[in-house]
Amino acid sequence: MSDKAVVFVTRKLPQAVEARLARDYDARFNKEDKVYTNEELIDLAAGADAIIPCHTEKLTAEVIQRLPDSIRAICSFSVGYDHIDLDAAKARGIIVTNTPEVLSDATAEIAMLCLLGAARRAYEGEREIRTETWADWSATYQLGIQVTGKRLGILGAGRVGQIMAKRARGFDMEIHYYNRNRLSADVEAGAIYHESVEALLPHCDFLSIHCPATPETHHLINAERIALLPDGAIVVNTARGAVVDDAALIEALRSGKLFAAGLDVFNNEPNIDPRYKELPNTFLLPHIGSATRETRDAMGFRALDNLDAIIAGGEPRDRLA
Ligand code: DGY
Repeated sequence: MSDKAVVFVTRKLPQAVEARLARDYDARFNKEDKVYTNEELIDLAAGADAIIPCHTEKLTAEVIQRLPDSIRAICSFSVGYDHIDLDAAKARGIIVTNTPEVLSDATAEIAMLCLLGAARRAYEGEREIRTETWADWSATYQLGIQVTGKRLGILGAGRVGQIMAKRARGFDMEIHYYNRNRLSADVEAGAIYHESVEALLPHCDFLSIHCPATPETHHLINAERIALLPDGAIVVNTARGAVVDDAALIEALRSGKLFAAGLDVFNNEPNIDPRYKELPNTFLLPHIGSATRETRDAMGFRALDNLDAIIAGGEPRDRLA
């Protein structure tokens, strides 16, 4: 019998990450990359010291209460932790960690892609090429909204929001933001702070969502708040679907209140509200904000650094609970 700690890895991870796991731990891998049911998760955790889940595993209070006593740590392969009930973990003395910082650049890249894709009607253009329905060039054909020089509202100016602001400055955008705490002047770098979400919205030609999903931000972007955006605004979401009320966003996209939306995250992934797919003014991606080779390796190594610290009896860098 090996004296290595047993780690249950719920999804297939990048090759370099699995190689390090196999070297240092008695690792239980998921070769088929199946999304386990809660019952399977609980069964497969039997006898393990730690779990490395992704955001696809919903570690609710009920699931955490039923985990075997052997589990000491949950080291998530994600920065978001809305899929883990931290209070339930704390109550059982299970340490929880995430992977901040390492995916901020990649996610901001996808936010910029969503912003540009929505503004310049990338989906419609792609569709015309692929379906061979592109008739000809015309001076009035497929006119989008120019990004350069417009106002960008950042909702949640954490790591990703700050990098998004930096990238947007490359397009001469004027940055507005709302954050629970105002940033220091050097980090703000001229961005205009608003004291509430409601105060921010009227200044957003573009709104980019970067706040975490919490009970407080659930459906934050609803019909009342969308009404506060300027007519023809564009909404970008690379944070979590739960921050947006789908019915309200879809209605605003249908009515023309909003020009377009660029979305990488959704409620109920991957079974998203089908109405998004019927709208021509949406640019949709399948939750790939952090999906670069470099970033996924870095996320795995960060999760393993946390795990190594816990197994060695030390304090992990990214402790949440
Ligand atoms: C994260 O890390 O939270 C990303 O959304 C992928 O799970």
